[in-house]
Amino acid sequence: MLEKMNEFFNKRIGGYEEHQLYVIEGAQEFYPYTASCLPIWDSTEVLDLGCGTGLELDFYFKRNPTAKITGIDLAEDMLKILKNKFSDKELTAICGSYFDIPFGKECYDAIVSVESLHHFTKEQKSFLYKKTYQALKHNGYLILTDYFAETDELECFYRQELMRLKLEQGVCDDEFYHYDTPLTKTHELEVLEEAGFSSVKILAEWGATASIKAIK
Ligand SMILES: C[S@@+](CC[C@H](N)C(=O)[O-])C[C@H]1O[C@@H](n2cnc3c(N)ncnc32)[C@H](O)[C@@H]1O
Repeated sequence: MLEKMNEFFNKRIGGYEEHQLYVIEGAQEFYPYTASCLPIWDSTEVLDLGCGTGLELDFYFKRNPTAKITGIDLAEDMLKILKNKFSDKELTAICGSYFDIPFGKECYDAIVSVESLHHFTKEQKSFLYKKTYQALKHNGYLILTDYFAETDELECFYRQELMRLKLEQGVCDDEFYHYDTPLTKTHELEVLEEAGFSSVKILAEWGATASIKAIK
């Protein structure tokens, strides 16, 4: 059964971090790696899209304890853990969808997203990446660590399966449901370039997961 995105993650809070860190191939490396790509100067302003309980922030705050983080997530229970973990840090946690919450213009040094954006279509990402681009300061950048479909056929298959399941279960089309529909890396890079980023590069890969850097 498809579950609404926030309900899916709220229900799986118990054991969530262990699952992410020990079940996903490469996670022991890609969380610290993602954090190592973020700026380390004092009071850096970073926006985290789909921050969850902040696994990437565990590593980032160790490198840059003065960073000012804004984290957006749909799942309120994930954010409760995040806020408890980092009560002594400069952290603003916003419960809502990163498609709806305004990011502002030219206010972040970097934007990061880990294992959150593989639920959305090219069209949705096009909108989000344009918004991301506008929210970055001059020379700011996005670090996207996520997993990708291996082939065009698989990308199509996941999308069609989601549509089939929605139809079968009569679920409303304009809500977010948890079902993984990753793009291929080629399509992801295309959407980022179309959003205006001047340099878009794959930095590292671990199985199906890759880190991409897109510079404004
Ligand atoms: C697999 S978790 C990743 C969390 C964290 N970045 C990490 O790697 O541990 C995906 C997160 O994305 C959030 N998410 C999914 N769609 C979202 C949306 N449209 N707006 C905000 N958060 C969203 C989910 O609620 C969930 O907490």
